[in-house]
Amino acid sequence: MSEDFVRIFDTTLRDGEQCPGAAMSEDEKLEIAHHLAKMKVDIIEAGFPVSSPVQFKAVERIAREVDGPVICGLARALKLDIESAAKAIKPAKKQRIHTFLASSPIHMKHKLGKTPSEVLVMAREAVKMAKDFVDDVEFSPEDGTRSDWNFLREICEAVIEAGATTINVPDTVGYTTPEQYGELFHFLISNVRGADKIIFSAHCHNDLGLATANSLSAIKNGVRQVECTINGIGERAGNTAMEEVVMALRTRKNFYEITTNIDTTLISKGSYLVKNITGMTVQPNKAIVGANAFAHESGIHQDGVIKNRETYEIMTPESIGLESNRMVLGRHSGRAGFKDRIIRLGFQPKTDEIELAYNKFLEIADKKKEIFDEDLIALFTEQHRKTGVSRYSLEYFQVTNGSKTVPTATVKIKVDDVIIEESSTGDGPVDATFKAIEKAVKLEPELSKLMISPVTEGKDALAESSVTLNFQGKRVVGKGSSTDIIEASALSFIDALNRL
Ligand code: KIV
Ligand code: ZN
Repeated sequence: MSEDFVRIFDTTLRDGEQCPGAAMSEDEKLEIAHHLAKMKVDIIEAGFPVSSPVQFKAVERIAREVDGPVICGLARALKLDIESAAKAIKPAKKQRIHTFLASSPIHMKHKLGKTPSEVLVMAREAVKMAKDFVDDVEFSPEDGTRSDWNFLREICEAVIEAGATTINVPDTVGYTTPEQYGELFHFLISNVRGADKIIFSAHCHNDLGLATANSLSAIKNGVRQVECTINGIGERAGNTAMEEVVMALRTRKNFYEITTNIDTTLISKGSYLVKNITGMTVQPNKAIVGANAFAHESGIHQDGVIKNRETYEIMTPESIGLESNRMVLGRHSGRAGFKDRIIRLGFQPKTDEIELAYNKFLEIADKKKEIFDEDLIALFTEQHRKTGVSRYSLEYFQVTNGSKTVPTATVKIKVDDVIIEESSTGDGPVDATFKAIEKAVKLEPELSKLMISPVTEGKDALAESSVTLNFQGKRVVGKGSSTDIIEASALSFIDALNRL
């Protein structure tokens, strides 16, 4: 790899987590962070340590346990924030503090109540403070794209003098356009004193659907770091999707003439992991990672692809880690083939995990002739997520339903070592099942989200269910999969209860 490359700064665990419903547990964050390291992300923004003890702990654990990328903590331009970030990232081999302060007239006046000169002093002081702890300091003038360009130039010069090594100009509200954002970087790189000593970075939000285009335009104008999230999750319309920028640079290398360090064959698994952990679905037509991204439906397209893939395919499914021949295993596949496939899908299974997942695989293979990669990823991820000891498990369920009957469910739940049987009616079969489970476990958590989606196509497809429960100030996400959608929902509900 030549010296000149685009650094991928992943903020799935910080800006991504800020979107409603995407909060993750410490273990879940760690799992994503390990995968990001495998993908060869350059920098992981692990969180905003001062914002809560939970955030602090997660950043500290990532700093201690995840090797490879620089581990970065976010901090406002305040002493307490910077000290907290420095402490949280301390165990990491490579550490970065990212400090930010708003620079647009509207933010300075109404949010900060500060004059531009006061902001200039605060920015310089914040970077100096961060430099007392680490060499690698990033500064962001928040709402940069709605700031005065000359004021931005002044702030950049001040923070470079104070020791900033990266300057990130965020499009905080998703307002800019590719031409304007590119011009802004061209202006800064040509006019800021000391610009040649630092890396400029792009950070875009997708309110106008322009985040990827804006980031690419920034790259074309000299930016060498892009801040992004897997699947583009993030506040409001989300952040720049990592997979889109990475694959655009790879596929259009002839135009951008620059690349990233990312192992693109791990994109698909990363996307799945984030979807599964956050419960945030990916739209089927989403670029790169949507279920239809490589599907050719029309006869003309199918005919062309059969004759020569390049007629309608600008990148291969294999390049993001999908098999082109999607049917991989069936009822007669042995453990070795199963394990080999799981490893090739990017997992590092332990022996007992393989055994449990293989048994579940055989159960599914009895009901479903063709097992696709997506099924295996769902199955293995679910197995992998299971906590060591589960208090509750589903032994049996039966549901009666029909257009003229009241939906009724009976469940047998193993609670510790005792089997409890309960029945309930409900507004539908899933509601009746959940109510029966609640009676059995004697808990009534608030259900804030239920999502059931097929993993692949066809009427025998595996269904995946994700349940979000709130109980006594705690929020948990449970997962379950089965060829039966009621069973999948019941399993996800019980998984969530175990997490409580
Ligand atoms: O969008 C934004 O401005 C941010 C900053 C903290 C960089 O996320
Ligand atoms: Zn942001």
